[in-house]
Amino acid sequence: MISCKIKSTYSFFFFLLFFLFTAFSSFAQGEQASIAQDGLTAGTATGDDAVAAAGETLFKNNCSSCHAIGEKVVGPALRDVQKRHKLPWLISWIRNSSQMVQKGDKEAVALFNEYDKQQMPSFAFSDDQITSILKYIEKASAAPAALPADPATGGSGVAQGGTDGPGGGTAAAGAGAAGKYLDYVLIALIVVLIVMVITLLIIANILSGYLRGKKDLDGRDIELVDQRFDFSKVYKSRAVQVIVGLIFTVIVLDAAIEETYGVGIQQGYQPTQPIAFSHAQHAGQHEINCNYCHTSVYKSKNANIPSANICMNCHSQIKKESPEIQKIYRAIENNKPIEWVRVHNLPDLAYFNHSQHTQVGKIECQTCHGPIQTMNVVYQYSPLTMGWCINCHRETPLNTEGNKYYDNLVKLHDQANKGAAFTVSSNGGTECSKCHY
Ligand code: HEC
Ligand code: HEC
Ligand code: HEC
Ligand code: HEC
Ligand code: HEC
Ligand code: HEC
Repeated sequence: MISCKIKSTYSFFFFLLFFLFTAFSSFAQGEQASIAQDGLTAGTATGDDAVAAAGETLFKNNCSSCHAIGEKVVGPALRDVQKRHKLPWLISWIRNSSQMVQKGDKEAVALFNEYDKQQMPSFAFSDDQITSILKYIEKASAAPAALPADPATGGSGVAQGGTDGPGGGTAAAGAGAAGKYLDYVLIALIVVLIVMVITLLIIANILSGYLRGKKDLDGRDIELVDQRFDFSKVYKSRAVQVIVGLIFTVIVLDAAIEETYGVGIQQGYQPTQPIAFSHAQHAGQHEINCNYCHTSVYKSKNANIPSANICMNCHSQIKKESPEIQKIYRAIENNKPIEWVRVHNLPDLAYFNHSQHTQVGKIECQTCHGPIQTMNVVYQYSPLTMGWCINCHRETPLNTEGNKYYDNLVKLHDQANKGAAFTVSSNGGTECSKCHY
């Protein structure tokens, strides 16, 4: 029967649509997987990704103040470091490099001398933690240096250019690139679907027009040909209402969640300052210590912003004629403080103490504030979210050496958790009351 033919034309097109849809989505997934797998040698993509992600956090929290992947910072560029050294060597180097130098390991001594006898700190990491860092380095090494999606070189891009931009030194940038890619695939998919539907309607129209011209139709065929597409039936249909309602709710919820999580997160915030003061010039080029200006950062909760008098220690002599320096003079003459715009700002509900981290925890400023010594204009490098604080507390080994107070605690911890490091959180650093009163 002819109606059967029309029906089979419809089902053929639906089949084609379905086929294209599955083909496209598996294509998209395949591409994603191959992006994710870039630079990984063995194992499943998901397992390795998790390891490399853990390694990335460890690297950012402990190594990025001195190392980048693609360029020398304080220590050497770590691109392809596993091709330069064997794994056991790397593990013992990262755990205790000065011991290796003392023992006279040839590679270690050569490296130590090459870098002006600077000591790399020791890290009480487990083998797994070190391997995860190396996995991350390996993965980041494989990524092309120019790609902003590479979190490690993204940060150092700022250093190279000596420019001010928040150089994508965030993990979000990596996720963003993959997300954007997926968006393109989805848009293409939707366009294809629309084109297919239009073609389908045109064909159906032509076919029923043709049938209508014929005389020898039976009852069912006539009914089919005369059938009008009834929109009111569609939107009155319970199923359609439920589906549309669901989609709408999901979209609204998604937007709301994004909003609430985004509130207060100001990563990358870079206000213009009243005087063109450059950290790249002062802390970078002229190597003025951070605590020359931020005098309280090792002693108290807050790091102070220097008063104009500190600037005058030098600028009563240097660059007196510069219009920017004149602004400092004017502030002093008028007895008005310079109105620097605050960059970092935790909500009052959270307690953060600088000296606890810089003096006691021995964490470098750059671990939290990024490569300040390369910034012409300061920007907020870290997210400063609760998750960020807690992640670091989970992962950073507590420096317990030479402190009798910890001896018993560490012993108990080691009995209970074989091989796991004694971290800030092992000592209660993730208890709510430590950061919220
Ligand atoms: C305070 C600065 C500093 C920190 C933090 C630091 N390193 Fe280093 N690293 C150095 C220096 C300096 C060297 C060069 C050797 C030397 O002078 O001891 C070096 C050398 C290395 C090397 C040998 C590189 C080569 O090209 O042969 C590796 C690997 C390495 N570091 C890994 C790490 C890892 C992993 C971390 C984080 C867990 C880390 N470093 C943290 C300063 C640092
Ligand atoms: C010559 C004085 C001077 C030196 C040296 C200096 N700073 Fe600053 N710093 C300032 C001034 C002035 C501001 C306020 C203006 C601005 O944000 O650029 C500031 C702002 C900052 C801020 C942002 C504060 C906010 O508003 O949230 C951070 C973070 C910071 N400095 C870290 C550092 C670190 C880390 C170093 C060492 C690598 C350093 N500074 C060295 C003078 C200095
Ligand atoms: C320890 C010395 C020292 C201190 C303290 C210091 N500066 Fe400077 N500053 C310098 C030097 C050196 C230069 C570079 C001069 C040059 O390029 O010839 C400079 C350059 C500048 C310039 C660029 C001037 C121009 O037109 O090129 C500005 C603006 C500036 N400083 C602001 C400040 C402010 C604001 C403070 C206080 C928060 C400050 N400086 C504290 C040493 C200092
Ligand atoms: C463990 C992470 C961490 C380290 C390490 C760290 N800071 Fe901060 N810094 C922060 C946070 C978080 C804030 C925001 C504090 C707030 O808003 O109360 C901040 C704020 C600041 C400010 C703005 C003034 C203030 O206290 O709010 C300055 C200046 C500053 N830091 C300088 C430094 C310098 C210099 C060093 C190194 C000697 C350093 N920081 C080390 C996390 C850190
Ligand atoms: C880069 C890693 C790092 C980040 C990021 C960090 N911390 Fe810490 N924090 C430490 C270390 C290490 C210690 C332990 C210092 C010590 O006592 O040796 C510590 C200790 C503390 C303590 C004391 C805990 C105790 O057991 O007494 C508090 C409170 C704290 N941090 C709050 C914060 C807050 C709030 C933030 C986020 C705004 C933050 N920290 C971000 C590394 C970090
Ligand atoms: C290491 C420090 C730290 C610990 C431990 C910690 N918080 Fe927080 N918390 C923060 C910081 C910093 C903020 C503010 C940052 C932000 O708004 O994202 C915050 C924000 C919050 C907020 C407000 C969120 C908002 O959007 O305004 C709540 C609620 C909260 N914490 C509850 C808790 C509870 C419950 C615990 C214990 C399970 C806890 N926190 C443990 C550091 C901590």
